[in-house]
Amino acid sequence: MAVDLLLGLQWGDEGKGKIVDVLTKNYDIIARFQGGPNAGHTLEFDGIKHVLHTIPSGIFHKNAINIVGNGVVIDPVIFKKEIDNLKKFDLDIKSILLISRKAHLILPTHRLLDAASEAAKGKAKIGSTLKGIGPTYMDKTGRNGMRIGDLELDDWKEKYRSLANKHEAMINFYDVDIQYDLAELEADFFKAVKELKELTFIDSEEYLYQAQKAGKKILAEGAQGSLLDIDFGTYPYVTSSNTTAAGACTGLGIAPNQIEEVKGIFKAYTTRVGSGSFPTELFDKVGETMGRVGNEFGATTGRPRRCGWLDLVALKYAVRINGVTELMMMKGDVLSGFEKLKVCTAYNYKGGKIEHLPFNIEAENVTPIYTEMDGWSEDLTKMSKEEQFPKALKDYIVFLEKELEVPIKIVSVGRDRIQTIHR
Ligand code: GDP
Ligand code: IMO
Ligand code: MG
Repeated sequence: MAVDLLLGLQWGDEGKGKIVDVLTKNYDIIARFQGGPNAGHTLEFDGIKHVLHTIPSGIFHKNAINIVGNGVVIDPVIFKKEIDNLKKFDLDIKSILLISRKAHLILPTHRLLDAASEAAKGKAKIGSTLKGIGPTYMDKTGRNGMRIGDLELDDWKEKYRSLANKHEAMINFYDVDIQYDLAELEADFFKAVKELKELTFIDSEEYLYQAQKAGKKILAEGAQGSLLDIDFGTYPYVTSSNTTAAGACTGLGIAPNQIEEVKGIFKAYTTRVGSGSFPTELFDKVGETMGRVGNEFGATTGRPRRCGWLDLVALKYAVRINGVTELMMMKGDVLSGFEKLKVCTAYNYKGGKIEHLPFNIEAENVTPIYTEMDGWSEDLTKMSKEEQFPKALKDYIVFLEKELEVPIKIVSVGRDRIQTIHR
């Protein structure tokens, strides 16, 4: 079996970018399978920080091919900026970055529709990244979308015009005050499309089939996290794609029986950006400290992330839905200095105790039940092997492994590539 998956198990921003970068040396191909520029994947090496939105996080390694799969939605304007940022590195982008013809395009009017929809929702807004993700996936499932492969056809601009006109009528329907200059947005879009067309478009499902046949190792890189999955997340406060394991099959054309390891990433605590319920959210000094020490600001929007204790009820759910075979615990270093740590092991739900994620986890229905553990005060960021870990951290890891019934194979103790401990 040739394919491993790497998925975020919480509400995104678990550290997927960092770990994909660390693992790329073991793979021939890194492939993104869903989401789009709503993602912000950060990786750091040689003292430089890189944030990728659509481009897979294996791009800095010369040994690997990076594929943007059919399940991804691409905004040519943002994609162009990402490519421009890579220009200072000596990378042969045309050969190492391949784009599926079946990936859908985010139009400028998709972004405007996202903004109009959010404005119309008022207080009930999703807290979308406003990158046009929802409207683009709506056009995909509504069978109206435009795909990368359409750009190779002579009549693509007519197709564009008719879809953009329809979107304009929809924006007016929302009856909200959205200021925009479509001519200017379109000028940027057409310029970016021209550059996009210089890149390599492929039939990625066929490419990946041949790669598997040739014995190549593939790592599928997820975006967002399981609790933002359109089916299994905290609906409606979710994104518009399947962020869970099955999404890698539909988003790349990979058969389920080709999947070997499912690598699940989680933070040693929990964060969330945007709206929606979050049972273990902290509104006190502890949460504030996690945010400050963990530098918890969105990599795409810069918004502060909400912080709270680790929620094992939610994490177990994500482990099961994805069939996780190995875990990676990120940002353990951020928890240094708390005298006591809390882990949510069950919920009080409508007067009774439950250990699974119910349909509705709004604060009125759910209060977390915590197990308290000793914290540690040592700085983990300089540690390079597990033997150096304080006892309380070792106990924390053993406790989580027992609860989750899956081994924790990597413990990350800092932002840099090298601050990664394999077990
Ligand atoms: P992604 O979306 O899952 O790729 O994660 P993001 O890049 O949005 O957010 C993770 C943030 O945590 C980034 O700023 C990383 O540089 C940082 N990070 C990753 N691992 C660690 C770690 O072990 N410790 C600390 N302190 N920061 C980390
Ligand atoms: P990465 O890949 C964290 C959140 C948004 C919002 C909801 C819907 O970096 O982990 P959307 O723009 O998709 O319509 O927003 O999902 N969201 C993320 N939160 N990390 C992400 O990606 C996210 N992508 C979307 O904040 O609540
Ligand atoms: Mg992120």
